[in-house]
Amino acid sequence: MKRVLVTGACGQLGSEISLALADRYGIENVLITDINPPSEYLGKLKFIAMDVLDDQQVNQIIKEHDVKLVYHLAAMLSASGEQNPRIAWKLNMDGLINVLEACKENQVDRVFWPSSIAAFGSHTQLVQTPQYTIMDPETIYGISKLSGELWCQYYYDRFDLDVRSVRFPGLISYKSPPGGGTTDYAVAIFHSAVRGKHYQCFLGEDTRLPMMFMSDAVNAAMALMSAPKESISIRSSYNLAAFSVTPQELTAALQNHFPEFSTVYQTDFRDLIAKTWPRTIDDSVARRDWGWQHEFGLREMVAEMVHNLT
Ligand code: SER
Repeated sequence: MKRVLVTGACGQLGSEISLALADRYGIENVLITDINPPSEYLGKLKFIAMDVLDDQQVNQIIKEHDVKLVYHLAAMLSASGEQNPRIAWKLNMDGLINVLEACKENQVDRVFWPSSIAAFGSHTQLVQTPQYTIMDPETIYGISKLSGELWCQYYYDRFDLDVRSVRFPGLISYKSPPGGGTTDYAVAIFHSAVRGKHYQCFLGEDTRLPMMFMSDAVNAAMALMSAPKESISIRSSYNLAAFSVTPQELTAALQNHFPEFSTVYQTDFRDLIAKTWPRTIDDSVARRDWGWQHEFGLREMVAEMVHNLT
């Protein structure tokens, strides 16, 4: 049985991937780590407090537990990163390099690390963004993701470490909240709607961003990690898409369930960030190489969110 380690396991993505991994590999084979203690809902999983900035601790835990698969998810997102650029850089870069190095040293079989649509920038072709294009990110988070992609490629080329990555769009979930991202509005808007409140949106009504329902994101990560090595043609990071939406369209979709619901707009710096990110993504290489397919479009996602939050 493969022993799996997750970093950032208490975050939005980490908590859901950890539960899915426990289903797949057995609860006794999944080790969840974070600097924060786990919520009750991860209670049954084996937790170790681990700081990815402590390279010796990372190395020791991977060695001691004979870890074979690593999902490295600990990171600071775009909006928080702009408040603390140097801390974000340190966490996102040194954390990744510490994990890659420990995985190399301990002959870990496979590593998953998420990149993001934030790795693109305002000179990128923002409609149907191709796999290979100009990448000039303007946030420290995006700069760390683009640099991280190159580090992953480097560890694969130089040390044959089997690192795999996707560029996630905004992730929408009902179980665990996001924190500090530019795409967080797409979760917060649901909480306002189901509570019968109006929503004040920090993005403009027409700001279109690619999004994905959490179960599709979890499936993508696990499908990529299960794909045969020969089928992986990209070692930086794969473009990945499900649907794209504006706050206005999401509001309209919610009004089908809550006719009284409305959104008011008060944009801040996050709208400027969002405007440098792709509106739609060409993810045909992921679909070709490892059979990526999403299940949830906008309508299905909204129905599932509303059903689970009410
Ligand atoms: N969801 C992230 C953010 O908004 C993008 O990857 O920062």
